[in-house]
Amino acid sequence: MPVPKANLYPDFNIVRLSHVELGVTNLAASRKFYADVLGLQVTDETATHIYLRAMEERGHHCMVLSKQDRPTVGALSFKVYSEVDLDAAQKWFETRGRPCAFGERPYQARTLHTSDLHGVPLEFYFQIDRLKPIHQRYELYRGVKPLRIDHFNCFSEDVDAAVAFYNDMGFRVTEYTEDEATGRLWAAWLHRKGGVHDIAFTNGSGPRLHHTAFWVPTPLNIIDLLDLMATTGYLANIERGPGRHGISNAFFLYVRDPDGHRIEIYCSDYQTVDPDLEPIKWGLKDPQRQTLWGMPAPKSWFEEGSLFEGVAPRPPALKSQPIIAP
Ligand SMILES: [Fe+2]
Repeated sequence: MPVPKANLYPDFNIVRLSHVELGVTNLAASRKFYADVLGLQVTDETATHIYLRAMEERGHHCMVLSKQDRPTVGALSFKVYSEVDLDAAQKWFETRGRPCAFGERPYQARTLHTSDLHGVPLEFYFQIDRLKPIHQRYELYRGVKPLRIDHFNCFSEDVDAAVAFYNDMGFRVTEYTEDEATGRLWAAWLHRKGGVHDIAFTNGSGPRLHHTAFWVPTPLNIIDLLDLMATTGYLANIERGPGRHGISNAFFLYVRDPDGHRIEIYCSDYQTVDPDLEPIKWGLKDPQRQTLWGMPAPKSWFEEGSLFEGVAPRPPALKSQPIIAP
């Protein structure tokens, strides 16, 4: 059994994933993609940054676009319960030899900057500016009608080690893929907020960000987005789907932004709040693991990902490969 026992009483309490900072090369092109096509709401913008939120979010942002010379990922951000948890998080990361510093972020109270065992830049905060609800302002809904950020998915050079690290932090594994030949983890999905995952790790050259996912109301919103993208110059940005994953049972679509950052549009996974929920195991060679139905994933989906700023990826320890479409 490669999945560690859940840590139900972690040293500090994470509420959920919060937001991602993406480095983009053309702010205007990215604004058009994220605001006009996908339908995220702009909450602030400057000459160098654009802040966005989804329709049911009351925190100031779930995505920050930052003008850069090349596409990168700044940090993955998580919200903790209170300032006490923030200080406990600092202690937890320092104990594991990770660099820690407190810094300022616009619209956020005191923020801890650190990184995980493989160098993924992480941020933790306890308070972010609250905005008025807009989930019933139906005149604002556009694009795929994104309701909330749902999860991050990262390539990892050692999924067993990543799962051990995040499990100790209090993330709980809901589903996993095991390489039967070695008994090692090939991928795992871990949550804090009670869905299938806040973060997932997949074997591959890492660390790199595979995708950021947004929850939408129904599969029909995904079909509407496909019609919109196909007729507004974004046909080539549709990478995989629509389809249904075996893992998570979610209806999905993967698209690429103007810089190649991958976004998943996601709906209808399931509740995982029971502390004794048993993780579901999948075999690496089971094709319905990735795709319950729909076209198999293309090669780009397995190989391409976004680099974290200043972090060079390393080849994975595990060489096994799943089934890849020609
Ligand atoms: Fe995903």
